[in-house]
Amino acid sequence: MTVGMPVFATYPSLAGQHAFVSGGASGLGREFVSQLAAQQARVSFVDIDEASGRALVAEIARRGDPEPAFSVVDVRDIPALTEAIERRSERFGPVTVLVNNAANDARHAVVDVDVDLWDERMAVNMRHHFFAAQAVVPGMREAGHGSIINLGSISAHIDLTDLPVYIAAKAGIEGLTRTLARELGGDGIRVNCVIPGWVMTPRQLTKWVGEAEKEHIFRMQALPELLYPPDVARMVLWLAAEDSRLCTGQTWVVDGGWE
Ligand SMILES: NC(=O)c1ccc[n+]([C@@H]2O[C@H](COP(=O)([O-])OP(=O)(O)OC[C@H]3O[C@@H](n4cnc5c(N)ncnc54)[C@H](O)[C@@H]3O)[C@@H](O)[C@H]2O)c1
Repeated sequence: MTVGMPVFATYPSLAGQHAFVSGGASGLGREFVSQLAAQQARVSFVDIDEASGRALVAEIARRGDPEPAFSVVDVRDIPALTEAIERRSERFGPVTVLVNNAANDARHAVVDVDVDLWDERMAVNMRHHFFAAQAVVPGMREAGHGSIINLGSISAHIDLTDLPVYIAAKAGIEGLTRTLARELGGDGIRVNCVIPGWVMTPRQLTKWVGEAEKEHIFRMQALPELLYPPDVARMVLWLAAEDSRLCTGQTWVVDGGWE
């Protein structure tokens, strides 16, 4: 082992599994797609960002891992989302790992939220979690196992403003996780929620995180290090793999120990 270079786990049980990721073209989703493919999973993913999605497919194919299947799908369009899951299952077999990841954390003041904005924010941040899960259940039942991983957020647990609908959706995802885990456990399907802290994705670094925010992060976290997408992806891999086979209905926090 090289001194100072961490060596991370591999998960043989993920090889050949069909993993479906929403919002997989950039940010955390990109890392989930990349790391699942590196474990030799057959990955399919959807996103609205066509250029980034195609670039990721090419990058993974170039490095010699199984080439993922990408399609442009807006997760607010439920028929398109479920159709993509079905189409990709014909090619890669039933989805046995589902990562519900797509979201949009655009800020809005309480006074600016009307019914249309409320419904649209719920659609992009929570509704698709349920319908993607519903769509993969028959295949997981057939396979006799499955792992559904929902992305929650630290924002539902700390004092934040200007994100009321996003935070309501993220809190709802935790409840959805618990009830789906209870309902689907008898079929060998596990459902867990990963709660990232403040993760340095390109979007966060461009839009919200400057030097003052980094100082704030170091004050709030027990571990004074910035979190990056691979830190969260390693939790997702473990939950996707058989290594966590009796873990379900839980929230798994990756936040550096936020106070
Ligand atoms: N980055 C963080 O600090 C952080 C913290 C807590 C929770 N999270 C959660 O992690 C997940 C990923 O967050 P991220 O920071 O990588 O976000 P991001 O904005 O960087 O990436 C989100 C991805 O989803 C895609 N997307 C957005 N709207 C879509 C739509 N309507 N249909 C299909 N795809 C769409 C985007 O194109 C993008 O590729 C989200 O569920 C988010 O709530 C992130």
